[in-house]
Amino acid sequence: MADLDDLREGTDYSGATTTENGFHLKGQSGQDWGLRARLSRVFDPADGKTVMLAFDHGYFQGPTSGLERLDRSILPLVPQADALMCTRGALRTTIPADNGKGIVLRASGGPSVLKELSDEELAVSIDDAVRLDAAALAVQVFVGGENETKSIKNMTTLVDQGQAAGIPVLAVTAVGRDMVRDARYFRLATRISAELGASFVKTYYVEDGFETVTSACPVPIVIAGGKKVEEKEALRVAYRAIQEGAAGVDMGRNVFQSEHPAAMLSAVRGVVHDGLTPDEAFDLFETLSH
Ligand code: 5RP
Repeated sequence: MADLDDLREGTDYSGATTTENGFHLKGQSGQDWGLRARLSRVFDPADGKTVMLAFDHGYFQGPTSGLERLDRSILPLVPQADALMCTRGALRTTIPADNGKGIVLRASGGPSVLKELSDEELAVSIDDAVRLDAAALAVQVFVGGENETKSIKNMTTLVDQGQAAGIPVLAVTAVGRDMVRDARYFRLATRISAELGASFVKTYYVEDGFETVTSACPVPIVIAGGKKVEEKEALRVAYRAIQEGAAGVDMGRNVFQSEHPAAMLSAVRGVVHDGLTPDEAFDLFETLSH
């Protein structure tokens, strides 16, 4: 066992990453062809970035605000997303098979909001993921949580199955209520996820030191949007995250709970793919909203 008396916090996160080897995603050039092809359906090969539309919330929250009717709220947004993060139930019932987007399939679940959320199990077989032509599989990891080891085991099991089938795994770092959301915590959670095999990691943006989270993680990071805030603020967070090394956003509530979801998604695309500043993106949002 490692000597726990000498756990020194890392301090040197500087310098550009030099491991791309011609593939557009950090740390993925050594992967099999099929896995890289699937990643290329999530991240645009033109700039290595992604705007994922997350609407998998129903797998533990039921019909939350903005997702009461997936056919009405989500279908009109599909053309503007690079990838769709959803459950197999939403996919089979609501999303047309000719949508042309990378599908990031929710692959863990179990407890509802009424129970201990970290008590998840794997909830999709690899055969069904292949049948659904999933571009990636998403699994929750609860580093520091009550079911930390179980959730990491879920992830490594899925990575083993995914590697065999050529399907990348997205580790979603879930933060428990009593966990401190700071750069130190997210460096730990994202790095553990990448070291144990995730091809990309979803985490939250933090104001202080987010660039150390992205630089210490050897695979791409996408940020969750989090709870609904003013559009301008959500665009500012997306902008800062991209400036500080994120490879994209996986945004849900800040899109589908906006009064103008399509305009918001366009503005987010402007930030992620076109380098718009938060002010420029907000102008675009306002123009498209009217
Ligand atoms: C649930 C998820 C959600 O997809 C996620 O939280 C993204 O959505 P939002 O932008 O609403 O936070 O991973 O655990």
